[in-house]
Formats: sequence, C-alpha cells, structure tokens
Amino acid sequence: RVEIKTLFSNANNYANQQVTVCGWIKTLRDSKALCFIELNDGSCFINLQIVMEEAKLTNYREITKLNVGSAIIIHGNVVLTPEAKQPLEIHAVAAEIEGVSTPDYPLQKKRHSLEFLRTIQHLRPRTNTFSAAFRVRSAAAYAIHKFFQEDGFVYAHTPIITGSDCEGAGEMFRVTTLDSLNPPLTEQGRVDFSRDFFEKPASLTVSGQLEAECMALAFGKVYTFGPTFRAENSNTPRHAAEFWMIEPEIAFADLSDDMRLAERMVKFVISYVLQTCPQEMQFFNDFYDKDKALIERLTSIVNADFGCVTYTEAVELLKQNNEAFEYPVSWGCDLQTEHERFLTEQIFKKPVFVIDYPKEIKAFYMRLNSDGKTVAAMDMLVPGIGELIGGSQREERLDVLTSRMNELGLATEDYSWYLDLRRYGGTRHAGFGLGFERLVMYLTGITNIRDVLPFPRTTGLCEF
Ligand code: 4AD
Ligand code: MG
Repeated sequence: RVEIKTLFSNANNYANQQVTVCGWIKTLRDSKALCFIELNDGSCFINLQIVMEEAKLTNYREITKLNVGSAIIIHGNVVLTPEAKQPLEIHAVAAEIEGVSTPDYPLQKKRHSLEFLRTIQHLRPRTNTFSAAFRVRSAAAYAIHKFFQEDGFVYAHTPIITGSDCEGAGEMFRVTTLDSLNPPLTEQGRVDFSRDFFEKPASLTVSGQLEAECMALAFGKVYTFGPTFRAENSNTPRHAAEFWMIEPEIAFADLSDDMRLAERMVKFVISYVLQTCPQEMQFFNDFYDKDKALIERLTSIVNADFGCVTYTEAVELLKQNNEAFEYPVSWGCDLQTEHERFLTEQIFKKPVFVIDYPKEIKAFYMRLNSDGKTVAAMDMLVPGIGELIGGSQREERLDVLTSRMNELGLATEDYSWYLDLRRYGGTRHAGFGLGFERLVMYLTGITNIRDVLPFPRTTGLCEF
C-alpha cells in the first residue's frame, strides 16, 4: 500500500507500476462504462484520480453506486498525466469496499457554510477548508518547535492545574474534587478547600509564564507550548475558552530582545508554512482572501521590518480618528480590537508593536519604566486579527515588584517562590505569549477562531 503523497512526490518512479491505495471518495462521476473517482487518503491535501472501466472490474456496478465519503481500497496501474493538474492517475484493476457511507452523509459535494460545518465538528476535518486549516495548524506547530529547538531553547512543560492567577484577571476555570452539589463549608460558610484533593483552590492555567520564568532562570532560554484556559465570557471571533499558547522566556534580556525574538519567530513560521504547505496556502489564497493576495501579503511581511510605537504615540494617532470608533480613545484606556486593527491595518499596513503601556492596564509582573507610569510591555498587532502576541520585560527588582503587588492587593506570601527568583541571582528577563489559534487565523485568512480549532470550546460551545 502506498500513500497518495508518496505517489505524487515520486511520480516517475511509480510510472506503469501496479500499486494499492486506500482512501475516501470525494467525488464520483459515472458515465456508462467509465467511472472517475477523486480519492483522498489524508496524506496530502490534493486528491488522486482513479479511472475505472466496467470491462475490467467485476464489482464495477457496486462501486459506482457508492456514496461520497465511502472508504475503498484500489489496486491499479500508475499512469503519468503530464498534461493534467496532478502528475498521475490510477487505472484500477480491482477495487474493495472498506466501509460504505450512507446516503444521508452530510458532506455532499457542494459548498457548505462554516456555520453549518461547526455543527458537525466530527465530520468537518474531511472538507477542503478544514483539511487545509488543520494541516497548516500542524505545520505551524512543527515550525515553532523547530524555530526554538534550533536556537537552543529548552521546551518547558508548565502545569495545567495551578494555584496562581498569572494574569490577575480572575478568569480561571476552577478545578476541584469536592462534590459541587454539596461542598464542605468552613465556619464562615465558604467552600472548604482544605478538604479538596489539592487542599486549596486550584484552577486551569491562564498562562505558563510564571513557571516559565522559573525555568528560564535556570536554562536561560525556554519556551512552552500547551493548552491554556480563560473563563472570560467573550463571545468574539478571536476568543476561545481553551486555546494553545507559546510562551518563550529569555534571561539576560530586555524588551527589545523580546521584540526581536517575536518578530524573528513569526517570520520563521510564515516562511515555513508557505514553503511546506503550498497547496493549502494556494487554496486559502484563492478561496478565502478577497483580493486573492494572501500569499503575496505574507511573503512581503517576511521581508518587512515590523513597525513600533509607544502606547502614548498610538493613542495620539488613534485619537485623530476617534469618530471612526465605537469606543473613543484616550490615554489610559485599554486598546480594543477596533483600535488595534486600525493601527495595524490603516496606519502601518503591516505588523506593529505597541510598547510601554500604562501600568494600570497591565499585569503585576511587568517591569516599571523610569517614568513611573508605564511598564515595559509589548503587544504585537497584525492585520486582520489585532493582538497576536502579548509580552513584556519582567520586573526583576524585588522591592519594586513587592510594592506593585501590595498596591494590587496580591498576597506576597502566595508568590514567595516567584519572589525567590529575584532573591537568588535575579536577572533582567523577558518573554511573551503568542496565541496559536490567532497565528493560524493570520496564516490562513480564516476569520473565526472556531474554525482553526479542531474542537473549539468557546462561549456557549462545547460540542463533545
Ligand atoms: O496577552 P496575554 O493575556 O498574555 C499572557 O498571558 C502573558 N502571560 C504571556 C507572556 O508574557 N508569557 O495572552 C497572550 C496571547 C494574546 O496575545 C492572544 O494572542 C492569546 O494569547 N490569547 C487568546 N487567544 C484565544 N483566546 C483567548 N481567550 C485568548 N486570550 C489570549
Ligand atoms: Mg494581552
């Protein structure tokens, strides 16, 4: 048995040979004594054409009655097709039915809306769109590991169940082994977590950053790549309750090192995907980009320098366009997606870093700038998405960090391990978090996060 991908990439070696291929029927055209099947086995995005002649197959009638989606095995001869789109086709000498598909198969040969396909998450990987999207997702994940591994980063596995709220936003899913209908209560009437498996409240992580910092201060350069959970009730095309995040953390490094790393990484992943998924990317270019210019745009981004503005400058630029926004901008406000997209799409027309945000709208661990008002934060904004990356230089000064935590009412006793990193050989260090789904959206032009996650969990959606 040979995979279709292998056949296509070694066409000449297989010329006139007899091979066996397996796959699912994508289309079947039947004209009297001749039948054409487009077969896909999942090894590559494109289909293999099977030609069947009634005279050559004993079960010809049975095969031509099969529905789209049926699984079959074909034995046949490889015929090179230099004039056609694909390099070869198979002329069948025998066919076996592995599994039939009943006539109510929901994926008939027509274009289905993405909304409809979201209702059949278990079947949608078989469509062109999702085949391409999840292949790009896989290639991008590999590219990320390749980028960091080749640069000497250590892959750090940070916990999924955690006792600390990294972002301090209170958006955590609680994990407990207590009987939720009848939890033990303290004398004050609160849930008594001391009787829980974890003996204190535990949650699903919103970020592996704090643990990545521990690892970075031993290994110098680390990265995480794992699932992350946010219980924010944001019903938008860019927010999921469960998403994957990549979080590098680098020691002896400041904010500009952090930005350089982020820019290099994004460019590396774009180049890798363009190179290794040409058919999938052509599909997105032709069917998902209104100007059919996705590939051209991504290629130009690899060769461009990303923009950079301070938050203060960004607010000045945006204020001049306040009439265009639902929420007008003023210094101190958190930037909304509409503002982020305006900056990157209308003003810079390429990815742009916004740095030095007011401390009030950022997390406790970010390094205070000398103005006393802003922190060494950076967000990378990209066209079509808005925020792709959020990162910062971390506050390494123990006294500044503890006073910031006190200001925010964070119990320093709970973070003594985190403060130890500043007590014992603390160094400048920085890192960022890249939302993997948003990267896949950026790469493919898909505009809803529900369509780049194989099994999305978003507000109101947890299919199975
Ligand atoms: O900006 P965020 O919240 O930053 C952090 O969590 C830092 N601890 C990262 C770090 O410095 N190590 O999240 C980082 C990125 C965002 O820029 C966004 O791309 C993505 O994670 N993200 C989400 N993606 C999908 N759904 C959500 N609900 C997301 N929330 C954040
Ligand atoms: Mg952020």
